[in-house]
Amino acid sequence: MRVLFIGDIFAKPGLVVTETYLNKFRDQYDFIIANGENIAGGFGITRKHFDQLIDLGVDVVTLGNHSWDQREVFSLVEESNRIIRPLNYPTGTPGLGHTTLESRTGERITVIQAMGRIFMEPLDCPFTAIDDALETLSTNTVIVDFHAEASSEKKVMGYHLAGRVAAVVGTHTHVQTADELIKKGTAYITDVGMTGVQDSSIGMRFEEVHKRFVMKLPARYKPADRPGTLCGLELDIEAGKTRALKRLQWQAEEMTGEA
Ligand SMILES: [Fe+2]
Repeated sequence: MRVLFIGDIFAKPGLVVTETYLNKFRDQYDFIIANGENIAGGFGITRKHFDQLIDLGVDVVTLGNHSWDQREVFSLVEESNRIIRPLNYPTGTPGLGHTTLESRTGERITVIQAMGRIFMEPLDCPFTAIDDALETLSTNTVIVDFHAEASSEKKVMGYHLAGRVAAVVGTHTHVQTADELIKKGTAYITDVGMTGVQDSSIGMRFEEVHKRFVMKLPARYKPADRPGTLCGLELDIEAGKTRALKRLQWQAEEMTGEA
């Protein structure tokens, strides 16, 4: 079974390149996961964006620290089992922290999302939250989206879950790392990267962010608006173990001209 994990889709350029890629290559995949927490101009996801991703063939959308940026997500996460938010939010938070669906090969896959705690908002322990979830699950194939800032915390999550899940995919920092590996059948990457404009401040135009950093003046961030690159990870999974993986950075040929 071949699974595609698409890194954090950022604003319109991220959505456009995701659309182009999936229209070309969707049939190569048996299950598709996408992090969609930055799709609405960098801040959360709307119902319309979610529907677009599902229409493109995405099976599960994951969120993160921007989960609640758009009001309509509160009802969306209650209605659909194809969108999940971090598992380690407080008890009573709307929505699911993991979901189990069937792939196109008829296998059941569970996708879990957890959020890190280093340089991020205080939350319940992501390690014990995932351990508790794994105890209740009977699914063979489990893929974890670990949405976290610190590489050390992500690496330790990879160590913690090695041999117990099919993949631990880091998201959130938006810069793809080249440290993908398979340990005890568990694929790991510190960050799968952002699907969006790479020559930007993690998705936003440089101008406003530069003004804030250099001048300490307030500036409203605007998403970069040039052709995007899809960053992702392809996983070949058998009996719940990853046998092969391929890190992706893809841009449509017609988009590679100078901006
Ligand atoms: Fe994030």
